[in-house]
Amino acid sequence: AELEDGPPVRKSPSSITLAYPSLSHSPSKPPPFQQPTQLLTFSYTPDHVLEFNDSALRYYIDPPLGADLGYGYDKWIRRPDERGRLDPLLQAWSRFKKGLCEGPSSSQSRAPDIHVRILIAPYEERDGWELNVMRVGGTLYFEEHLSEAKLKGKNEMEPRHRRQTYHGYAFESYCTTSTPGRREDDSSHVHGWGGDVNTNVQWCSVVKTKLGDRRIVIGGEVDCVREKYSGNTANFVELKTSLTIRGSADETKFEKKLLKFYLQSFLLGVPEIVVGFHTPIHSGSARAWDPLICLAWGDRFLSFLHDTLPANTGKDVWRVTLSPKVGIAVAKLDALGVEDVMGGDDRVGFLPRWYWDEMGL
Ligand code: A3P
Ligand code: MG
Ligand code: MG
Repeated sequence: AELEDGPPVRKSPSSITLAYPSLSHSPSKPPPFQQPTQLLTFSYTPDHVLEFNDSALRYYIDPPLGADLGYGYDKWIRRPDERGRLDPLLQAWSRFKKGLCEGPSSSQSRAPDIHVRILIAPYEERDGWELNVMRVGGTLYFEEHLSEAKLKGKNEMEPRHRRQTYHGYAFESYCTTSTPGRREDDSSHVHGWGGDVNTNVQWCSVVKTKLGDRRIVIGGEVDCVREKYSGNTANFVELKTSLTIRGSADETKFEKKLLKFYLQSFLLGVPEIVVGFHTPIHSGSARAWDPLICLAWGDRFLSFLHDTLPANTGKDVWRVTLSPKVGIAVAKLDALGVEDVMGGDDRVGFLPRWYWDEMGL
């Protein structure tokens, strides 16, 4: 607890660490967080081709009662997990800077959930993560680093876990439609939809916001909008599923998940979360988490990296490692490590070379 607002602890020149904040009290001066403003949106087609339009936009519709979340499982077109790259976000950012998007109201893969996991770190008890970070001038770039073993684990999911994951997507299908107010296939199917889940298809929003003194650009998938898309985040809806709560242990688990739901939506400016439970639950406990701890931590984390990483070594890549219950460690990758991060592509560090050139870096 004493370390809460203390300086970073320097262990050795090659490894710099940042300890966790205390969880026992809310920060006395939480950092200001600016309401996210949308810059632009984009879609992924059924073949996972990125297009700067709203073809993948979906509208919310109440799900049928007693929906079978396993329906269509065998037909699931599942986009394989891959190393998330920043490229789609950089493409969007570049487009925005050139004024190529159709006005402010016009119109990213699983990877962006790393921004949630940074903020959630103080409450993380089990799963660590690794980030690659570059500091180019005043800007910090982040990408998640997935080790080969982790990537393999994601793609070779246990059948039970895989099915559970499908339930989340099936719920999204039951709750969404491409025409506001009208369910597709409603007359022809007992299930109200064709059971055709294709997780290549995504609709994404890129927003800018500010935490403390740092301006942030993030992108993320948006599940659907309520009634009408007005070119902003005001009626965005996040859809979630959760298993039945059968006792206090389940309840604690659900409480923890809520923090993730909350931060994921909050960061993108999504004001509404709809949670589908497999069966009804009874829950009324007080919140087991404090989002201000996460925001203050996020602010401290960004400031720490900003103050610690030298500004003039643009091509260097830094590896940030979270050890649950311990804290953050930062170390510079050696040449071999950087080569691994480039993955054989034409990159400067982990940034695509076209972006590097375009930004005049
Ligand atoms: P649930 O959230 O209902 O479990 P999102 O909620 O972010 O829109 O993601 C949609 C679904 O993708 C999730 O549904 C879940 O099934 C799956 N999913 C999300 N994050 C995941 C992760 N890190 N690993 C595996 N599956 C994930
Ligand atoms: Mg989603
Ligand atoms: Mg969702």
